[in-house]
Amino acid sequence: MKISIIGTGYVGLVSGVGFASKGHDVTCIDIVDEKVDKINRAEPPIYEEGLEELLKDVVSNEKLKATTDTGKAVKETELTFICVGTPSKQDGSVDLSGVEKAVQDMVQPLKEKDEYHVFCVKSTVVPGTTEEKVLPILEKSGKIVGEDFGLGMNPEFLREGIALEDFLNPDRIVLGGWDENTLKVLSEAYGRFQVPKLKTDIKTAEMIKYTSNALLATKISFANEISRICESIGIDVYEVMDGVGLDHRLKRDFLNAGAGFGGSCFPKDVKALVNYAKEKDQETKLLNSVLAINEEQPVHIINRLEHISEGVKGKKVAFLGLAFKGGTDDVRETRALPMIKRLLELGADVIGYDPEASENFDELLPGKIRYTDSREEALEDADICIIQNDWNEFKNLKPKDFEPMRGKIIVDSRRLLNRENFTDDLIYIGVGV
Ligand code: UGA
Repeated sequence: MKISIIGTGYVGLVSGVGFASKGHDVTCIDIVDEKVDKINRAEPPIYEEGLEELLKDVVSNEKLKATTDTGKAVKETELTFICVGTPSKQDGSVDLSGVEKAVQDMVQPLKEKDEYHVFCVKSTVVPGTTEEKVLPILEKSGKIVGEDFGLGMNPEFLREGIALEDFLNPDRIVLGGWDENTLKVLSEAYGRFQVPKLKTDIKTAEMIKYTSNALLATKISFANEISRICESIGIDVYEVMDGVGLDHRLKRDFLNAGAGFGGSCFPKDVKALVNYAKEKDQETKLLNSVLAINEEQPVHIINRLEHISEGVKGKKVAFLGLAFKGGTDDVRETRALPMIKRLLELGADVIGYDPEASENFDELLPGKIRYTDSREEALEDADICIIQNDWNEFKNLKPKDFEPMRGKIIVDSRRLLNRENFTDDLIYIGVGV
């Protein structure tokens, strides 16, 4: 099948490479020449495990190519996925300008095309967007939905860091379609995926994406709230959640207390859902609390440290992990930001280290902290060490790794370390214990 994909960010490029690896002929479209050139040279413009190898395969087999020419790509394919970014506006609502611009570019080719074509939104958009915002633009072509072209919505559930694996082996595929013909084309695109496929109308597909992300975020804030109770009574929230998670109705996943959820999706999507509900005159008491707990959690961790360490003023803090999670250089909504801001307010001297994200983080807080090129250097003479994300090199650090430190306090805000290994020489402060 011939597929075009507009937008070569995480979702677009990973989907493109994924579909090409399943045998389809894929054309990726982007407005940035540099990205297109890179993809055609089989160099991924983003880092994702396994992406470079698979991109090399599909480019050399001529299963995937990239272009800036939307018109040609739409005309030469049967199905176009729209995968451009949908960032938040100041008020939390979704900024659709990227999607609208991309769809606008498809009007002329649709007008000139004689064959049936399906347009499918993969970007995360609030219910109603595809039919109320995308469709009217496509209809400017004079063509008729359901006759000349199909319209669909197919949410993506992949996680950054393991995006390719998630795309190729999803738990389920949700296909929202205008009509049976649209659903037939979308089903064909996913023909080689042997997983449950749920066919719905377009609005339901849009809502499934928001509801999934909102429920995952809710699990995290729930775990963080319970973790504070556990801390106050000296028991371990991880053990509590292990016990809870054995009930098949209450899966253990995403019940890990930590510094809260960051990244480009959960904070943005929960805010967008809250905002959308407000437009529909609906209250969102639970989701408001989910967001509030998430804002408090990083500050709570630093306040607890301030209390246990009898003040952080003038102390050297080695801050390990600046990206929102390990395995990425993405610092969007990283919990490192509110934690470091609070440390600076309290007068600490912060030295940041991240294998990939220091440069990006410095743009969030220009010149406010120093950075090192290695974990060892950051720990040298530090009074306190804080671990914020879960890069492999932070997992299973042993007490001897902290020997170069001057002080004794280790804050494990992702619960990566085995606290049993820490004796009285080092003070271990784990979230939720
Ligand atoms: C998330 C979803 O997991 C994907 O299914 C979805 O497709 C994606 O958003 C999206 O909408 O595009 P992602 O943002 O890449 O994926 O990251 P996650 O691995 O889900 O982590 C999100 C945040 O939650 C991270 O800050 C992580 O540290 C935190 N987290 C996760 C916890 O604090 N506790 C947990 O138990 C799990």
